[in-house]
Amino acid sequence: VKTVKWGVLGTATIAMEHVIPAISAARNAEIIAIASRDLKRAKGAAERLCIPRAYGSYEEILDDDNVDCMYVPVPNSMHCEWTLSALKAGRAVLCEKPMATSLAQMQEMVSTSQGTGALLGEAFMYRYHPQFKRLLDFVHKGTLGAVKIIRGSINFEIHEGPDIRLNPALGGGVLLDVGCYPLDAMCIVLNEAPIAAQATSLQRNGVDYLCAAILEFPNQRLGLMDCNFDTPWLQAPLEVVGEHAIFRLQNAYNPGRGDCKGSLITEDGGNVETFVVKGADMYKTMIESFSDSYQNGQPLQYCTETSLATAVALDMVQRSIKPMTSPVSRRQLAV
Ligand SMILES: NC(=O)c1ccc[n+]([C@@H]2O[C@H](COP(=O)([O-])OP(=O)(O)OC[C@H]3O[C@@H](n4cnc5c(N)ncnc54)[C@H](OP(=O)(O)O)[C@@H]3O)[C@@H](O)[C@H]2O)c1
Repeated sequence: VKTVKWGVLGTATIAMEHVIPAISAARNAEIIAIASRDLKRAKGAAERLCIPRAYGSYEEILDDDNVDCMYVPVPNSMHCEWTLSALKAGRAVLCEKPMATSLAQMQEMVSTSQGTGALLGEAFMYRYHPQFKRLLDFVHKGTLGAVKIIRGSINFEIHEGPDIRLNPALGGGVLLDVGCYPLDAMCIVLNEAPIAAQATSLQRNGVDYLCAAILEFPNQRLGLMDCNFDTPWLQAPLEVVGEHAIFRLQNAYNPGRGDCKGSLITEDGGNVETFVVKGADMYKTMIESFSDSYQNGQPLQYCTETSLATAVALDMVQRSIKPMTSPVSRRQLAV
């Protein structure tokens, strides 16, 4: 069977450490080319990961008609531009998260994908982990009853220094870097976009380090999200609160390859039933799923409608970020 041929735009850490090895390990994919803004860097990466072709510019790899699918892990501010170029060159595109930094960008990317007929997907790898499927199964089976609130937190400590995450011009900041995960999870679990959002954030050097948001979804449901760069990665819990039970994943987005823990908390006196989901390579599953769709001409498991809902949530949160306008101060409480 012909395998799907992948090319990679840039020598990003996520590509080198996880996604290119996943392409090489996938049953239906192979990595055939990598590009860098610097030819020496492209050649070094190609040698390290056994990639046959190396290009010294992004334009050149887009001219390589042997490439079926392009993986785009450039800084967030450049996702739209390079995804559009790759789609227009006739490539299917798997773009890193968050695919767009605004809803307008996402709409342009989706309409270009529709116009060219080229597949477009967002590399939210956690969606392909079996623990997330377990969560969706519980929700769809009705075990939790009607879902009322979804809570998601995510954080890690970032160190000063050159990092695309700390650069406002490159789409840095904690909301775009990791706040997008809980927002994406909420939209998938509720299967729609929010209708309103209110958020606040704390900034340093032009990027947000802490952000918290409340999102309203249709039919009186809420999403609560917080994210920060200031506290160490211990857990990244996702809690789906239903009428009858709470479903909790301990490490919802990046659990590594090991087994994952979760719990189901039921009405019955706060009964807590813990469970373990066997570890998996979610990057490999994501690549195999995308490559299957490419080969079979089928829609992606998570199509652009999902990414559009997440872009709505992200854009609403971004636009609503304000210092708290009428906080209750200590003086009012006479403290
Ligand atoms: N799904 C996940 O698990 C996951 C995890 C981490 C990050 N990400 C996402 O993946 C993307 C890359 O993140 P990363 O941490 O891997 O980034 P990174 O190591 O800083 O790499 C970014 C790459 O983009 C290219 N680039 C082009 N213009 C650039 C510029 N002006 N400044 C810096 N780099 C530039 C560079 O490649 P060349 O120099 O070779 O051209 C660089 O290697 C981001 O969108 C991020 O949100 C996803």
